[in-house]
Amino acid sequence: MTARTIGYIVGSISSTSINRRLARALERLAPEDVTLVEIPIRDLPHYSPDHDADFPQVARDFKQGIADVDGVVIVTPEYSRSIPGVLKNALDWSSRPYGQNSFNGKPTAVIGTSGGAIGTALAQQHLKAVLSHFNAPTLGQPEGFIQSTPGLFTEEGEVTDETTAAFLRGYLDAFTALVDRYAEKAKVTV
Ligand SMILES: Cc1cc2nc3c(=O)[nH]c(=O)nc-3n(C[C@H](O)[C@H](O)[C@H](O)COP(=O)(O)O)c2cc1C
Repeated sequence: MTARTIGYIVGSISSTSINRRLARALERLAPEDVTLVEIPIRDLPHYSPDHDADFPQVARDFKQGIADVDGVVIVTPEYSRSIPGVLKNALDWSSRPYGQNSFNGKPTAVIGTSGGAIGTALAQQHLKAVLSHFNAPTLGQPEGFIQSTPGLFTEEGEVTDETTAAFLRGYLDAFTALVDRYAEKAKVTV
């Protein structure tokens, strides 16, 4: 089996983020031969076209982080029925300079958790629209709407409910299959 590296972006910079706990859970539950690595967004400044001629190192590192992995999972909270500004800012960096969109052709998946019953579904709809514009193939099913309850994820990313853990394993299997399909296509077209 081929080793794959999947990057993940956490759309929250909260020190108590439940989405970071979910990301840690995904790290722990990754299938054999799949390694999850974080692509951090915390230190990105606000994007402005003024940077296009000379991106700051932190933004170059961010774009390189996306380039270096076989696929990207975005783990995000829902803010005001959309995605948090810090995540949108990161996506804007990824899309520039014009013609150098980091997500073009990159397999992606979105998932998120909140206390609300819809588990970030509306944020994910907005996020999928952005990724579609980026020409990023995105996992359609299963949809990762996780309603968080106190203690569902420990700080270390342990999942205390087996049904949720099984769902997350299946989710990662489905995304790995998507990553593999695009890797095969890339081999054929190169
Ligand atoms: C500015 C703001 C807006 C929010 N809007 C929503 C929302 O639209 N839907 C929702 O389910 N939760 C919303 N919440 C609650 C978040 O789901 C909750 O704070 C969650 O813990 C955020 O994820 P994090 O812990 O990973 O940062 C909002 C929270 C904040 C701070």
